[in-house]
Amino acid sequence: MLKYFFLSYVFVAAIVIAAFGTRGSKSELPPIEIFPDMDHQAKVKYQVKNDFFADGHGARMPVKNTVPIGFEVPVKPASSPEYKPASFAFTNGLDYYNTGKMGDYYGDGLPAELTVDKSLLQRGERQFNIYCAVCHGESGNGKGVTSKYGILTAFNFHQAGAMEAASPAYRPDGAIFDVITNGKGLMGSYGGNLTVSDRWAIVAYIRALQVAVKENKITVQ
Ligand code: HEC
Repeated sequence: MLKYFFLSYVFVAAIVIAAFGTRGSKSELPPIEIFPDMDHQAKVKYQVKNDFFADGHGARMPVKNTVPIGFEVPVKPASSPEYKPASFAFTNGLDYYNTGKMGDYYGDGLPAELTVDKSLLQRGERQFNIYCAVCHGESGNGKGVTSKYGILTAFNFHQAGAMEAASPAYRPDGAIFDVITNGKGLMGSYGGNLTVSDRWAIVAYIRALQVAVKENKITVQ
């Protein structure tokens, strides 16, 4: 009996020393990885030669006739005098158009880069109904389908004071834009899903909804 006790004692001691005995000592060898996670994997590094592809380049050219996400296609060909280089469709800069902020403060009003017309509002309606209505309701009253499943706090755009700049319920245009971009509290961010102009189109549409409800053109249910 005692023999087995000593044997297992020596065995456990050997394991403990093997595992922890060398802690703190330095080695030039790569560390022992018990769980390698995904530290080592086959990948192509940027600007590196790669024999896998016929042309020997690691980087691939964009597929013909496609546009990388986040870029807008130049409207005119580069040879034309009205050529404007492709711009970013997602937030790219610190100006009001890209952030909804003027310095440290939220701005109010739609930025000059936008043309507010029917097509902008229609775009806003479409995107609002896709991205916001599930929680905020199609009318913007905060009672979208998720309210039936426990999310009761989505903002109501028609609550008392929502259209009065002095009221705590008021959100300036820039603040709505920023909430779409970065999320707030329980609400996630949609800055990676909605382009800057789509976010402003939604802001414009929300304003149209508020006016429509106030003037009893649509009823909130
Ligand atoms: C998954 C549900 C959900 C979706 C989708 C959603 N929201 Fe929200 N939203 C919320 C919740 C919940 C709050 C309250 C957040 C809080 O105060 O914690 C909120 C709050 C807000 C607020 C007020 C934030 C503040 O300043 O208090 C605005 C403005 C807003 N949402 C706009 C939008 C717009 C525009 C969209 C569509 C792009 C959208 N939300 C999509 C759930 C959602």
